[in-house]
Amino acid sequence: MVKRRDLFKLGALAGGAAVIPALAAQDTGVQAFARPAGHHHHAAAVFRGRAAAAPEPFTVRLPLPPVLKPSAVLADADVYRLTTRPAVAELLPGLRTPVLTYGGSFVGPTIRATTGRRVIVHHTNALETGTSVHLHGAHVPAAHDGFPTDLIAPGTTRTYEYANQQAAATLWYHDHAHHMEAEHVYRGLHGFYLLEDPGERALKLPRGSYDIPIMLTDARFAEDGGLVFIMDDSGNRTTLLANGRPAPYLPVAGRRYRLRLLNASNMRVFQLRLAGGEELVQVASDGGLLPAPAPTDTITLSAAERADVVIDFSRYPEGTKLVLDDVLSGQPVLRFDVGERERDDSRVPSELRPQDPLPEATIERDVTLAYDVDLGWFTINGKLFDPERVDFTINEGSTEIWRIHNSADPIGVPHNLHVHLVQFQVLDRDGVPAGPQERGPKDTVALAPGETVRVKATFADHRGRYVFHCHQLDHSSMGMMAVFEVV
Ligand code: C2O
Ligand code: CU
Ligand code: CU
Repeated sequence: MVKRRDLFKLGALAGGAAVIPALAAQDTGVQAFARPAGHHHHAAAVFRGRAAAAPEPFTVRLPLPPVLKPSAVLADADVYRLTTRPAVAELLPGLRTPVLTYGGSFVGPTIRATTGRRVIVHHTNALETGTSVHLHGAHVPAAHDGFPTDLIAPGTTRTYEYANQQAAATLWYHDHAHHMEAEHVYRGLHGFYLLEDPGERALKLPRGSYDIPIMLTDARFAEDGGLVFIMDDSGNRTTLLANGRPAPYLPVAGRRYRLRLLNASNMRVFQLRLAGGEELVQVASDGGLLPAPAPTDTITLSAAERADVVIDFSRYPEGTKLVLDDVLSGQPVLRFDVGERERDDSRVPSELRPQDPLPEATIERDVTLAYDVDLGWFTINGKLFDPERVDFTINEGSTEIWRIHNSADPIGVPHNLHVHLVQFQVLDRDGVPAGPQERGPKDTVALAPGETVRVKATFADHRGRYVFHCHQLDHSSMGMMAVFEVV
């Protein structure tokens, strides 16, 4: 039997060969945004310029995204202001890269929130195309979820409210504008939203400066530093970035750290491993804490998935340099430079947060992800995205099982599925019960070619239209997305 990791490898290779016509014109600068928003039938694009030299690893320090300061603190809410605008960032040493940003930084500022306390964000769009802000993993009313056609027009401001009625989790916000999310997110419209709760705090996992968000992406750089965006060009996005830098180093003390790993790349599957197969302890996934810590030597993240891991650096002598590699690309992602031992009050308790059983499901649905040879597009249940069409109608409060299948199409491409509004439970993969790393609340699930995964969720509290889609954003931007309406 072929192992899951091998399937991903095969799929990644097949996906890298440009088998479908690319959509977007070649553009390495933000001038791209002066033209009208994406349309289905761009001519196939090629990039004929020269590529930037591959950067030397471990020459720059891992930057931490700035933490956003509230513009007002109300009795029951924190209010923020953010402007989506072009900027220039030094992603590769010595090169200036035009990027799109929330508030000026390539990894947008981190919003810190607490369960039960509201967050209000006034988003101003200073781009020349529409934007839509989605808080990935959040349980919010449809009007605040960033539906693809619910746009912030250029030059206007829109207010999003988040009630934070859910458990502590590593969430993130990113653009979701119809057809444009792939290019927008690739060029920098992404940031962390870290939700805490008192129960999690009481566990005494590493906190404060020992709790580090790490956003993993990939990019294709032109010689002048410009980001080359061509639709479905994943095979050429060969530079891996951690918080927007190529294989940076991070000085750490000899103690425990919590690392919040997010795969914010459009298309890449990361398979992360410490050199020598050293132990990582996963404590949380997309929607928050696992029932129990899951020790492992490998963290596999498809696009948009998160894994919070604890590493105990007190195991290593001062001066140790420990590299975190991506096994699939054979490239380093990050290096930890272990410093002096430090006093450490943190711990990883043997129980974290039990997963509440969900009610019996009243309906089972099939969701088939496929490449349609005739259409030449990636589809869900045979159809391309139509924001006006409701694909599933769901009764408010009901519990459903979705049987998600990645059809073994002629290309054999890996996909994943992300469902808005809910956190789901992964029941099984090809009939095998979910492993310890998938036993926490999830909002995105990976599917190797041919694989079937069953997930279960309760669609409570909010009515309205939401999307579900492959989170390989080049796919979703080309139509691998569908709508459910809670009624
Ligand atoms: Cu991360 Cu529909 O989004
Ligand atoms: Cu989402
Ligand atoms: Cu896909």
